[in-house]
Amino acid sequence: MSQLTGVKACVFDAYGTMFDVNAAAAHLKEELGDKEAKLSEIWRLKQLQYTWLRTLMGNAYVDFWQVTQDGLDYAMDAVGLKDDALRGKLLDLYWKLDSYPEVPRVLRALKAGGLHTGILSNGSPDMLNGAVDSSGIAADLDAVLSVDEHGFYKPRPEIYQMVPDRFGIQAGEVCFMSSNAWDAAAAAHFGFQVCWVNRFDQPRERLPGEPKHTLKTLDDLPALLGL
Ligand code: LAC
Repeated sequence: MSQLTGVKACVFDAYGTMFDVNAAAAHLKEELGDKEAKLSEIWRLKQLQYTWLRTLMGNAYVDFWQVTQDGLDYAMDAVGLKDDALRGKLLDLYWKLDSYPEVPRVLRALKAGGLHTGILSNGSPDMLNGAVDSSGIAADLDAVLSVDEHGFYKPRPEIYQMVPDRFGIQAGEVCFMSSNAWDAAAAAHFGFQVCWVNRFDQPRERLPGEPKHTLKTLDDLPALLGL
């Protein structure tokens, strides 16, 4: 029995949910050796922390591309890497991250089911367009929404409000998917019906906002919507 009812739009977080944020370091496995996993983990963590901290500071916005570079610089420092060529290669790869394998087929199923589809992301418009194009999913996305027009990041409620505004629907008619547990919690707190895509077997966050479902991958989504 589907518990997701009255959904008019399915909207996805981008990084970690549709696009594999560990793919950049994974492609350079040989060069990174035993530093690969640690570098990738710290890079992602710092990238996110800097979005939250800059949002809290006020008047401190720089776009996600800058935050991504700052996060990498911190991470390289933390694992003791000093290599400009490697830095350049890691950053280039971030523009064409692999999408998770089920993403194209799930988007097609949602579109075939008559739903609106979209991305709501911290990513800058250019970065998002790069990733969307390189994974060939543009035709099955109705909207690619970036925080950039606001000049602050998730989880501010103004960011989630972009979705109902874009589609002319109520928050409760939005089904939102994120692998980032904090993003899933905040989106549920805002009023979306949320599926937390727990790709990395993480514990749940102790935050307000309860996802309706926890999925391992996006493959289970169409069935939950009765498609
Ligand atoms: C995004 C980050 C949170 O795409 O993954 O918004």
